[in-house]
Amino acid sequence: QSHKMEAIGRLAAGIAHEINNPLAIINEKAGLMKDFLEMSGNLEQNKEKFDDLISSIFESVNRCRNITHRLLGFSRRIDGASEAINLNDTVREVLEFIEKEMLFRNIRLGLHLREDIPTIVSDKGQLQQVFLNIVNNAVDAIGKDGVIEIRTDIKDEHTVTVLIKDTGPGIPQEILRHIFEPFYTTKEKGKGTGLGLSISYGIMQKLGGTIFVRSEVNKGTAFTIEIPQKAVPV
Ligand SMILES: Nc1ncnc2c1ncn2[C@@H]1O[C@H](COP(=O)(O)OP(=O)(O)OP(=O)(O)O)[C@@H](O)[C@H]1O
Ligand SMILES: [Mg+2]
Repeated sequence: QSHKMEAIGRLAAGIAHEINNPLAIINEKAGLMKDFLEMSGNLEQNKEKFDDLISSIFESVNRCRNITHRLLGFSRRIDGASEAINLNDTVREVLEFIEKEMLFRNIRLGLHLREDIPTIVSDKGQLQQVFLNIVNNAVDAIGKDGVIEIRTDIKDEHTVTVLIKDTGPGIPQEILRHIFEPFYTTKEKGKGTGLGLSISYGIMQKLGGTIFVRSEVNKGTAFTIEIPQKAVPV
């Protein structure tokens, strides 16, 4: 329990920090606009400056909105549903979301769904969020021209797995150890919130499973999601 509180405290501190930055920017730019208004009678002259300031305010608001949306999506799903699900169908449905994007970027899909995968009892919506986060990361990592391999498998009598492997640039050691931290991102400003993997990790813990990562620079990255055949709530 104290472990959980610690994690929540860390998350809260992270959120406060991440939201405070754009808020400070909004505050500063709005202040500048006010100054301009008071100082110069000629608004025409300052039109371009105003335009820039307003853009940067919109950008900051957007960033806050992205963060709160992702967190809301997470908390809404906190009471996990338990239903009998077919893992292969669950994976296939996620791919429908991302197929077009992959085609567009010339990313080939190597899909290996094990026919005899047992029915599992888990939360389909949450699992799909995890798969989507990880496949999205793979697409981002490849950019264009590459392969994403997705494989469902049986690990043992209690556990099934989903492997999501990409031919992206790989993750260097010093980055690898941070990727599950909330708000850790290497993506350019405004692109990533850095919440995808930390939320995915939290979901898998809640479902009694886990996520592993293996990565090799210049070769690619593989995430393995282990799922209990019967979700054990923690
Ligand atoms: N398949 C991958 N290949 C290379 N780097 C990856 C891969 N998956 C994750 N990463 C690294 O881990 C970081 C954290 O990933 P995470 O999904 O948590 O956040 P994000 O993708 O940056 O932002 P968001 O998920 O909100 O769009 C990424 O910024 C990237 O540096
Ligand atoms: Mg991501």
